[in-house]
Amino acid sequence: MFEHLPALAPDPILGLSTAFKKDNNPAKIDLGVGVYKDEQGNTPILKAVVEAQKQLMETETSKVYITPQGVQGFIDGMLELILGTASPVLLANRVAAVQAPGGCGALRILAELLKRCNADTKVWVSDPTWANHIPLIGDAGLEIVTYPYFDKTTASIKFDEMMSCLALVKKGDVVLLHGCCHNPTGADLTREQWQALAKLANEVGFLPFIDLAYQGFGEGLEADVYGLRLMAESVPETIIAASCSKNFGLYRERVGLAALITHNSANRDIVQSQIQYVARGIYSMPPAYGGALVDIILANKSLSALWQSEVTEMRERMIQLRKLLVDNLTAQNASKDFSFINQQKGMFSFLCIGPEQVQKLRSQNSIYFVDSSRVNIAGINTKNVEVLAAAISGVL
Ligand code: LMR
Repeated sequence: MFEHLPALAPDPILGLSTAFKKDNNPAKIDLGVGVYKDEQGNTPILKAVVEAQKQLMETETSKVYITPQGVQGFIDGMLELILGTASPVLLANRVAAVQAPGGCGALRILAELLKRCNADTKVWVSDPTWANHIPLIGDAGLEIVTYPYFDKTTASIKFDEMMSCLALVKKGDVVLLHGCCHNPTGADLTREQWQALAKLANEVGFLPFIDLAYQGFGEGLEADVYGLRLMAESVPETIIAASCSKNFGLYRERVGLAALITHNSANRDIVQSQIQYVARGIYSMPPAYGGALVDIILANKSLSALWQSEVTEMRERMIQLRKLLVDNLTAQNASKDFSFINQQKGMFSFLCIGPEQVQKLRSQNSIYFVDSSRVNIAGINTKNVEVLAAAISGVL
């Protein structure tokens, strides 16, 4: 049975961690997988999470199965965080939602549901997009096509080309959008661009599918969902996959949310039954632990305030690191203008250099990042930035 299976290449992102661990160079730098790191290069558990863990330890009395949709308090808290407390779609009872095993789990069950709705649905993804979108959505059996998004030569969004392409998609097709902090480029749509896109979605009849993995890491918890809320409130149907990996630092706990905004409340109940059926057929119900922690944090005013201050701290540090990198590249007289890095948002930036240069940095300088030239900004610190800037400048 298994002897005909070909061995696969390491994952383009996760494989970097394995290669980094094997590298014996003490000066190695890891800018690969998207995890937040502090100045010491550690990814500590957030203080709000530590406190929530204590509370959960004291209050949890059973490990009996939770409901198929997950921890209801988590779902309600997350929907308010994402859509807003006075969200018209929440008030109109138009949102079906389940807790999912991470943003990945959410993306997959939503893709499976889309397949059940219409097996011929095409999913349009940005060129480029997060590498794992392709298997998560494609392996559910949906056709994936790309729309133009980022121009590496000018380090900016090709908005006109994107709009011209999306103007021609079929009614009922799905357009995957990054809610904020575009992965891998860090190039986000402006508010005016979101408005134009929402208008186009209504004219053409495509469904926005919003992947929200970095809420709070761009401009702020509220500002980062401007586009998502606009879509939710102005387009009849919207799909949302949210992750708590980064903003709650709950990476390994696999906490996410899959939500669908339906055109009316009656349809919401049908869609809720369908998404629960899909989840039951894959993993039955989500792991409870991480969702219970987020529920505790969001339901408690002071814990929630502590968590928000920790998100602010992470965001502001990443903004400073962008500046630090650009300043160091300028000080090295780099032959390329990298000032665009300061305009990009969240955890990632594209350096807009070629794969040969990326590979050279890996083999000669033990600096690890994705071949596309995506760097994890949070992997930079005051101790490694000078070496990093000199090495980048050196391969140009
Ligand atoms: C990333 O893009 O680096 C993260 O989302 C981790 C992953 O699973 O790829």
